[in-house]
Order: sequence, then C-alpha cells, then structure tokens
Amino acid sequence: MVKKLALFASGTGSNVRRIVAWFEDNPRVEIALVVCNRPDAPVVSFAMEAGIPVRLLQKEDLYGDDRLSRELQAMGVDLVVLAGFLWLIPDHLIAAFPGRILNLHPSLLPKYGGKGMYGRHVHEAVLAAGDSESGITIHEVNARYDEGAILFQAHCPVLPGDTPESLAARIHELEHRYLPLLIEKRLVLLS
Ligand code: GRF
Repeated sequence: MVKKLALFASGTGSNVRRIVAWFEDNPRVEIALVVCNRPDAPVVSFAMEAGIPVRLLQKEDLYGDDRLSRELQAMGVDLVVLAGFLWLIPDHLIAAFPGRILNLHPSLLPKYGGKGMYGRHVHEAVLAAGDSESGITIHEVNARYDEGAILFQAHCPVLPGDTPESLAARIHELEHRYLPLLIEKRLVLLS
C-alpha cells in the first residue's frame, strides 16, 4: 500500500523540498498534501509547481471544527509532518492521528521550546545563553508546543563568532539530512 504524507509548512519550505526530493523515486510514498497558513509562502509556489495539492488554512479552518481532520482521514493520510508550521495543533487533529504527527524543532528540546520559540528566536536564545552546542529535535506532537515524545535528536557545535544566521545554516543541514530519514523509518513502523 502507498503511504501518504501530509506536510504542514508555512515558510520557505526547504525541508519540504528535501522531503519531496527524498521520496521522488519511491513508489510506496506519496506526498498527498501541503498544508499552509500563508498564501504567499514560498512553500506554496514550490508545491504547486511540483504538482502537489495545497490546502490553505485560516485559523477557523483549524480551530473552528474538525473538518481538516476529516479531510485528511478521507484522503487516507498516514502521517502528518510539521516542517515549519507555527500554529498549535488542535485536539481533534491529535485524536485523528494518534502518534502520527511529527514536528521538527531547531533546538535540543526541552531547551528553547514553547510558544514563540521558532526560527531566529531559538538561535538567538542559544547564543545568548552561551551554549556550546545546539541541534535538532524530531518529536511526536501533543496538545502543547514542543512537548511531545522525543523520537530523535542530532547535535552540532556552536562556534565562536556564530550569528543566528550561521547557526541556523548549520541546523538546517542537520534537518535536511535527518528529517527525511526519520519520516521513512516512521512510515516503515506504520506498515
Ligand atoms: C525549520 O528550521 C524547523 O526546525 C522549524 O521551522 C524551520 C522551517 O524551515 N520548525 P524551512 O521552511 O523548511 O526552511
């Protein structure tokens, strides 16, 4: 059976691109949908050019009722991956996909997680704290920001002279290397 992925992303979408490229030649995995809450996000134009259906979300679509969960279930989505999606995932979605929603976070959780801790804010906090390392976390999603069970972490050094940008670039490399692998492993577990 073909496994179907729904990717939630609202930014540049570099991770979405890597995931799409990773599974391009894999007939057992389909990127069924990209879900985005910003119509002008680069990830939207990328998905459209790649021929991937895009679902644009407004707040009421996610929080008003459980329609999105039902849509994803009706499509036969097996796994939901949040790759740069900042809105809190509502209970109906968690209940519809128990243990089947993963989030990517650009720090070593539980450090530097929670509401407002995304992108540049995370890297600025790591640098301000003087940490000697940072990294990425891939975790299951529960009803609280960045608190679900941790599935995977990868570390990288924080180097003298690092800026939020240079640290972000190092973190992105880790994300691009490991997120597709983790998704593939997770899909095997689901089969
Ligand atoms: C990633 O750094 C991820 O950790 C965070 O959002 C960022 C998305 O980056 N949750 P991109 O849009 O995939 O480049």
